[in-house]
Amino acid sequence: MQLEVVNTNDGSTTLLNKELNATYHSKFGAVEESKHIYINHGLVPSMSYFGNSINIIEIGFGTGLNALLTLQEATLQKLNIHYYAIEKNPVPKELYKKLNYSSFVKTLEEDQFERIMASEWEEQITLNPFFKISKLQKDIHDLPTLPQAHLIYYDAFAPAAAPDMWQKPVFDKLYNVLPQKGSIITYCAKGEVKRTLKQTGFIVEALPGPSGKREITRAIKP
Ligand SMILES: C[S@@+](CC[C@H](N)C(=O)[O-])C[C@H]1O[C@@H](n2cnc3c(N)ncnc32)[C@H](O)[C@@H]1O
Repeated sequence: MQLEVVNTNDGSTTLLNKELNATYHSKFGAVEESKHIYINHGLVPSMSYFGNSINIIEIGFGTGLNALLTLQEATLQKLNIHYYAIEKNPVPKELYKKLNYSSFVKTLEEDQFERIMASEWEEQITLNPFFKISKLQKDIHDLPTLPQAHLIYYDAFAPAAAPDMWQKPVFDKLYNVLPQKGSIITYCAKGEVKRTLKQTGFIVEALPGPSGKREITRAIKP
C-alpha cells in the first residue's frame, strides 16, 4: 500500500492511496465531510428513531476519523454506542501518527485518537462509558456474518477505484443485519449504486452533500 498524508481544505489531513489515486476523504475537508455525512445525516437521525443505544458498523475504517467523531458525539450526548469497524488493510502507525484529527475534537481527551487507532484488532475495547469499539481486520467479502447493527457507515473507496465494494452481494449482507428503519449512509451518490441499493430492497434517499458534493445517499430498510 503506497499511502501519503495530504491536507484538505478545512485544515484536516487525509491519506492518498497512490496505487488507486484515491483519497480517504474529500479534498474539500475531511473533518467537515465526515461530520456532515456520518454524524449529522447518519448518527443523529438514527438516534431520533432508535434512541441512545446504537450499534454501528463501519465498512472501511481507514484513518479512524469517523470512529473518533462518533466517540465525540457519544460522549457529548451520553449515548451507548457499540462501533464495529471493518478494515482489510489497517493504516500503519507511522502514518496515523501524522494525522491531525485530535486537534478537531477538543471536547475529548487528547489521547483518544491514539487509543482508537492502537486498540487491538478482533477485541472489544471500552473507550469510555458511552463508546465501545470492536475493530475487525477483515475483507468484507470474506465475512460470512456481520454483527447486528442499526446504522452502517459505508465508506469504501469510490466505485471507479473499487467496483467490487458496490455490488448487490455486499448490500444483501448489510440488509440482513439491519432492523426495520435501520440504514446505510454513504457519500456515494452514483446512479448505479442507488439502483443496486433499491434492487436490494432499500428505500433510497438523496440528501444534501458537504462542500464540493451535491448529494449523498441514505438507504433505509423498509
Ligand atoms: C475511503 S477509505 C476509508 C475512509 C475511512 N472511513 C476513514 O475515515 O479514513 C476506504 C477504506 O476501505 C478499506 N477497504 C478496501 N477494500 C476493503 C474490503 N474489501 N474490506 C474491508 N475494507 C476495505 C480500505 O483499506 C480503506 O481503508
